[in-house]
Amino acid sequence: MEKTLIILKPDALQRRLMGKIICRFEEKGFQIIGLKMLRITETMARKHYAEHEGKDFFEPLVRYTTSAPVIVMALQGKNIVEIARKMMGATFGFRAEPGTIRGDYAVSNRFNLIHGSDSPAAAEREIGTFFHTGELFEYKPADFSWIYDLSTGDII
Ligand code: RTP
Ligand code: MG
Repeated sequence: MEKTLIILKPDALQRRLMGKIICRFEEKGFQIIGLKMLRITETMARKHYAEHEGKDFFEPLVRYTTSAPVIVMALQGKNIVEIARKMMGATFGFRAEPGTIRGDYAVSNRFNLIHGSDSPAAAEREIGTFFHTGELFEYKPADFSWIYDLSTGDII
């Protein structure tokens, strides 16, 4: 099972959209294995977005990311990195397709509500940054055998 790290960014909190966004991932069939609220520090934000350092939007991005508390979630599911990115929609709110989280709730190029890991390797790294081992939970969801067809021995 693949994991991903989701951040509900400061605008999701300020606009009271956190519940709706979490609900989409629950309803899709993904499993929450870790969840907490925190204020991202400047150091954490610079590290998290290090690939964008030096770009013209980097400093405003750091200010935005640290401007209010966020929720971080570790989610688990088959092919979750790719599926979660599809559910989020394109980076810029005005380009994101209707039906996606950003497409339905965001119009800004920067205030786009949500972060999701862009590869399984990034997910492992980012989950390690935001969660201690004891904050991640292994359990079998009660509806697991109705989310996936397990009858052939595979997860389909
Ligand atoms: P994220 O990392 O937050 O999940 O978003 P992403 O992969 O879809 O987009 P990425 O290219 O990694 O950009 C990181 C965040 O920077 C802000 N941004 N602003 N031109 C701009 O002003 C600009 N470009 C990117 C967005 O908040 C984006 O999510
Ligand atoms: Mg990114």
